[in-house]
Amino acid sequence: MACGILILGNNQMGEYSLTDKVLKMYGKTHYVSELAPSMEGKVVTLTGWVHRKREHGGVIFIIVRDPSGVIQAAGHREKLSAAIFDEMQKVTLESSILVTGSIAVDKRAPSGIELKVTHFEVVNLADSEWPLDKDAGESFLFDKRHLYLRSPSQTSIMQIKAGISRAAHQFFDGEGFTEIFPPIMVGASVEGGATLFPFKYFGGTAYLSQSAQLYEEAAICGLEKVYLLSPSFRSEKHRTRRHLTEYWHLEAEILFGDHDDIMGVQERLVHAMVMYVTKYYQRQLDILAVKVRVPKLPFKRITYDSALEIAEQQGFKITWGEDLGTEAERAVSKQFKDPFFITGYPTEARSFYHMPDPDRQEVTLSSDLIAPKGYGELTSGGQRIHDLDLLLKRIKKEKLDPTAYNWYLELRKFGLPPHSGFGMGLERFLVWLLELKHIREACLFPRTPSRIHP
Ligand code: 4AD
Ligand code: MG
Repeated sequence: MACGILILGNNQMGEYSLTDKVLKMYGKTHYVSELAPSMEGKVVTLTGWVHRKREHGGVIFIIVRDPSGVIQAAGHREKLSAAIFDEMQKVTLESSILVTGSIAVDKRAPSGIELKVTHFEVVNLADSEWPLDKDAGESFLFDKRHLYLRSPSQTSIMQIKAGISRAAHQFFDGEGFTEIFPPIMVGASVEGGATLFPFKYFGGTAYLSQSAQLYEEAAICGLEKVYLLSPSFRSEKHRTRRHLTEYWHLEAEILFGDHDDIMGVQERLVHAMVMYVTKYYQRQLDILAVKVRVPKLPFKRITYDSALEIAEQQGFKITWGEDLGTEAERAVSKQFKDPFFITGYPTEARSFYHMPDPDRQEVTLSSDLIAPKGYGELTSGGQRIHDLDLLLKRIKKEKLDPTAYNWYLELRKFGLPPHSGFGMGLERFLVWLLELKHIREACLFPRTPSRIHP
C-alpha cells in the first residue's frame, strides 16, 4: 500500500492470507496455511517461531509455527552456506525467525509438504531454556500465560473467541440491533451487592459493572433493539471451573418483546455462533481435537419445577424457591445433548427487575439457557418489570436503596413499554463449545480470586 500501512493478518473468515496489496515485512510472502502441495518448487518466505527442532545426518529440521499453522523446514549442510547452517544450528526453541525455501512434497510430513531451506535468519534469539516443557502443570502454565498464549491450542482458542464475537456482531446486525457502549464504572448493583467490586471515586464509592442491563433498558427507548459486548466483573468468592472475576458479557435487550421473544433471540444467536465456528474454524477445532455438534432448533424448554424433579431423581434435595446450585444444575444438564432453557425461576431466586408471571406470581417470566453435558448456565434472561410501583416494591423487598435506582425508576414514569433481554458470558460459551477443562483457558489473561498477574 502506498501509505505503507502493514495489513497482515486474518481475514473475515478467521484464516490468514497475504494479499498483493500487503507491504511485506521481512519479505514475508505467505502464511503457513497458504502453502499446498500444488505449489511444489515455489520459493516462499515465512516468518514465525521455532516450534520444534532436531538435527539428523547433516540436516536440521525446524518446525516453523506462525498464527496459521506449522510446517517443517529442512536445512541441508551441503546445500547451505556455513553461515546460514550455523544460524540454524544455534537457533533455540521459541526464537522468532525468517525462513526462505522451496516447497517440496513430502508424504511423511503432516501437511504433506516440507520447506527446503535456502535462507534462514534469526530475528530475536530466545533464551536456551524454554520454560514450558511437557510436564508443566496447569497452574504454572497460567503463571506463564504470556508465553503459554502462543501455543497452537491457546492460539486456536483465541482465534475461535474472535470468531464467536464476529458471529455475534453479524447476527445482531442482521436482526436489526444497534450496538451500544455502556459505562464500566457504575453507581449501583444489578445482580446483588454480594458480588460487587467497589473502588474509591472522588470521595464516594463506585463499582465495576456486573451487567449493562439497566443502561440497555434506557437505550431501547430510543433504539428499540440493542446489544453490547463489554467486560463485566463479579467478586465471586467461590472458586469453580466456570467463574471468573472479569469476563466478556454479551447482552441484548428488546422493546415490545416478551420472554418467548427473547428466548427466540438467544437460540438463534447460539445456533448462528456455533454454525460460524464449524464453517470457518475447522483447522482450529482439529488442533483442539473437538467435534462440534450443531444444536437443533428450537431448543427444549423445561420449567424450574421439572428441573427440580430431575435434580431430585439424581439425588439432590432442593427446597422450592432456592437457586438450583452448580452441582444440581450440572446433573440436570447431563441429561441433555443440546442447550435447553429452564423457565419460570422463583421470584425470590431472581434479581429485583424480573417480571412476575401474571398467572403465577411466585415465579418469574425468566429463564436460563443451560449448556448440555454438565457445562451448565450459558445465559440468564427474561422479561423486565415495566410498572413503576411493582418495581419499587421489588427494590424495597430486596432491601436495595431506591435512590441508587432513581434514574432507572424514572424510565417507568416516561412510557417504558414491556421489554426483555438476556446476558451471556462469552467464556462460558467457549468452555461448552470447545469442551475446555477450566474457564481460564477461554481468557487471554484470566482474572480469578487467586489470579490478577500476569
Ligand atoms: O446470570 P447473570 O448474572 O445475569 C445478568 O447479569 C443479567 N443482568 C444479564 C441480562 O439479562 N442482561 O449473568 C449473565 C451471564 C451468565 O449466564 C453467565 O454466562 C455469565 O454472564 N456470568 C459469568 N461468566 C463467568 N464468570 C462469572 N463469574 C459469571 N457470572 C455470570
Ligand atoms: Mg444467571
